[in-house]
Amino acid sequence: MKTVKEYIRTIPDFPHEGIMFRDVTTLFADARGFRMAVDQLLHPYAGQPIDVVVGLEARGFILGGAIAHQLGKGFVPIRKKGKLPGAVIEQPYQLEYGEAVMEMHDDAISAGQTVLVVDDLLATGGTAEAGIKLIERLGGEVVGCAFVIDLPELGGRKRLEALGMEVHALCD
Ligand code: PRP
Ligand code: ADE
Repeated sequence: MKTVKEYIRTIPDFPHEGIMFRDVTTLFADARGFRMAVDQLLHPYAGQPIDVVVGLEARGFILGGAIAHQLGKGFVPIRKKGKLPGAVIEQPYQLEYGEAVMEMHDDAISAGQTVLVVDDLLATGGTAEAGIKLIERLGGEVVGCAFVIDLPELGGRKRLEALGMEVHALCD
């Protein structure tokens, strides 16, 4: 039986030379692989109160939508700048290969709501940290950050744990 890790392929030199891009489309395209990933991402949070699932653009939408559906909860997207139609709050961040700004609708989360943050991959942790800051600025409480892949050498887990976050990843 294949593990989640075995469904993920690596594309060298994408989007820039020297980046080993961990491509989860091959995991998502397989019915068993996708279900296994969603179930395993949810597993640590069984019985925990989660009011809303937040997905980070773009592959966090695919996982977060499935997780929110399974939990019977709502889904909130955090998007790259300029994509959301309503009033937003914004947070700049650094990527492994560049700089960007993340945005969330300013009414997407209410003060006191408990939030599970979901994305496909944790690298430097810049994207997730920007997401956490947006959620916390609206008064949300992040109860966990769930990823399919952690790239430990890039330090994202340590960075999020230093913020007091509980981090789960299905593979390194
Ligand atoms: C990737 C990945 C995470 C982020 C992780 O997205 O899906 O969201 O990088 O990197 P970090 O931990 O160093 O912040 P990317 O920025 O490539 O954007 P995309 O999902 O829109 O392709
Ligand atoms: N985001 C940042 N680094 C990445 C990598 N190596 N593979 C896929 N997504 C990424």
